[in-house]
Amino acid sequence: MSTLGNGGGSSRVALVTGGSRGIGLGCAEALKSSGHRVAITYNTSTPTVAEETGLLAVRCDVTDPSEVDTAFKRVEADLGPVEILVANAGITRDSLLLRMSEESFSAVLETNLFGSFRTVKRAVRPMMRARWGRIVLVSSIVGQTGLQGQTNYAASKSGLVGLARSVAKEFAARGVTVNVVAPGPIHTDMLSGISEERRDEMVSRVPLGRIGTVGDVAGVVGFLTSEEAGYITGAVIPVDGGMHMGNYVG
Ligand SMILES: NC(=O)c1ccc[n+]([C@@H]2O[C@H](COP(=O)([O-])OP(=O)(O)OC[C@H]3O[C@@H](n4cnc5c(N)ncnc54)[C@H](OP(=O)(O)O)[C@@H]3O)[C@@H](O)[C@H]2O)c1
Repeated sequence: MSTLGNGGGSSRVALVTGGSRGIGLGCAEALKSSGHRVAITYNTSTPTVAEETGLLAVRCDVTDPSEVDTAFKRVEADLGPVEILVANAGITRDSLLLRMSEESFSAVLETNLFGSFRTVKRAVRPMMRARWGRIVLVSSIVGQTGLQGQTNYAASKSGLVGLARSVAKEFAARGVTVNVVAPGPIHTDMLSGISEERRDEMVSRVPLGRIGTVGDVAGVVGFLTSEEAGYITGAVIPVDGGMHMGNYVG
């Protein structure tokens, strides 16, 4: 194992779901530049940027358990057992509760919560055997605060906290840590649909006075997956420019 730019830690095998763009791609690039061997999953997009930057790109729809298993097998064959998992793949399907269809509610839960359950479950056995693992689930501040129009998304993101903390307790004795990052508004495709007015209104509620970058989230994920973060588990770390400080239990 080489010791590259990750604080003197080992080169590990990392997998980032939904790493074709946005926060996932930022996390994957940060992990790679820390010296890890990194794979990403993509679903509908062509993973051009990922491949150009030397990441192993594997197709996987996290709503399909067999695709999750196949993706892990491919990473295990090409890079080795996954030691760092960033469960990041996520979608929104917003509408007010009275107009929220069963389909929109379950599609978001299937991807964001069940998809994370599947990837965590598939990842954890080899980590347990190796007595070392780092899992980070990408939630959202909305999972703690709620938001009009996002009953499905908020339910899925708050579910991740219970999932993470339960898995953290089940596998703590095996050297596996499980933490959650809860981003506020971050510049990605997910935010591109909102109006300028709504964006300005959001910024006005961020004490640090700006929308976050994928690098802001990737830096925290990089730390939580490092050797140095070995005494942190079951934590929820907001990356929100202070937007909701003091308003939820971390
Ligand atoms: N941006 C924000 O403001 C913000 C704030 C808080 C939390 N988050 C969370 O951060 C995570 C990443 O968000 P983002 O802003 O980077 O979103 P994004 O730019 O829309 O990217 C979403 C990623 O998820 C993948 N994905 C979607 N459905 C999938 C499925 N069924 N199976 C596998 N992969 C799937 C996409 O793959 P394809 O490209 O192949 O479709 C893409 O890589 C999400 O969990 C999101 O909820 C974002």
